[in-house]
Amino acid sequence: MNKEIAISALAAHYGATDAKVFAAPGRINLIGEHTDYNGGYVFPGAIDKGITAAIRLNGSDRIRAFAIDLNEHAEFGLQEEDAPTQSWARYIFGISRELIKRGLPVGGFDTAFTGDVPLGAGMSSSAALESVYAFALNQLFDGRFDKLELAKAGQATEHNYCGVKCGIMDQFASLFGKAGNLILLNCQTMEYRYYPFHPEGHRLILLDTQVKHELASSAYNERRQSCEAVVAAVQKRHKDIAFLSDVTFDMMYEIQDEISAEEFRCARYIIEETERIMKVSVALELNDYETVGQMMYETHYGLSHLYEVSCRELDSLNNMAKACGVAGSRLMGGGFGGCTINIVQESLYDTFISSVNTRYFRQYGKIPKIYEVVISDGARELC
Ligand code: GLA
Repeated sequence: MNKEIAISALAAHYGATDAKVFAAPGRINLIGEHTDYNGGYVFPGAIDKGITAAIRLNGSDRIRAFAIDLNEHAEFGLQEEDAPTQSWARYIFGISRELIKRGLPVGGFDTAFTGDVPLGAGMSSSAALESVYAFALNQLFDGRFDKLELAKAGQATEHNYCGVKCGIMDQFASLFGKAGNLILLNCQTMEYRYYPFHPEGHRLILLDTQVKHELASSAYNERRQSCEAVVAAVQKRHKDIAFLSDVTFDMMYEIQDEISAEEFRCARYIIEETERIMKVSVALELNDYETVGQMMYETHYGLSHLYEVSCRELDSLNNMAKACGVAGSRLMGGGFGGCTINIVQESLYDTFISSVNTRYFRQYGKIPKIYEVVISDGARELC
């Protein structure tokens, strides 16, 4: 469906009939939040919602792009000074530039894209946009890069063209996703392992607060700075420590007087989250969703009270899940809005949803959007 929409928009706007079509997904993350840029583990999976783009080379040195869902057009060159102003177009420009910087001979192209991954809801719509063009351009120009290099180019796009000092999780999940599997990724070594994920008797539900997060203008980059400040303090005594995920509580107590209380709380959250991810990786193999769920609640507590990236609406949804006896629930992604991820027992589903709708409406005058997601494949060409 999205494939046909993208093809006909490309034909209508730029007269192209010989398009290739690519898709890249958004992601969920079971556990391991804000750990990626701290050299820790994450546990994401690609989802059945993402961005679909039709694209054909135009033989010029310019890009003409049409954002179908926004009904907006942009045209720009491929040099640094040609950066477009529309934020969606900056992702396409940014990924093209990052691939050029790495040596890919990217030339002009025409493209139209559409998406069904909600924007600003914490499901990584921006990583899906970067990944779909990273994958497509690599394939259309000389295919020299592997998926890891493409993920790094996507991350660099966020850093250099969109102002977000993000980690690698979202782009990695969007490119390496595998249907029915989550990915346990070590963000320091980039080693990864697929974990089949079929939570029998449960449903994987995202509840969207409908509070839009704005990572760049939010405290995301500040949190990263706090973490780096802690590492710098630890390094005065332990030169070999490069990432917060390798710091221990003993090291933290040594430097407690040299860092702020806020920095201490952030570090405590990261150390505890690292332990939780390990517990979840064991519990998943035993199909022990009670432990998985318990860890998710603990993560939410840490994100809300220690790392301080939650908001009232996310906390309310988390409390409602707990009150209903839902197995696991927590805010997902960068925070400050977006979704909670919930592992809900089949038998509780109807009660949970109706209770959330009533209570959330009473408190905020709206009902959360509900997304049921399926763990799916990563970036690919649609033939
Ligand atoms: C955003 C970033 C990721 C990661 C998460 C929090 O999604 O893009 O790199 O840091 O927040 O886990």
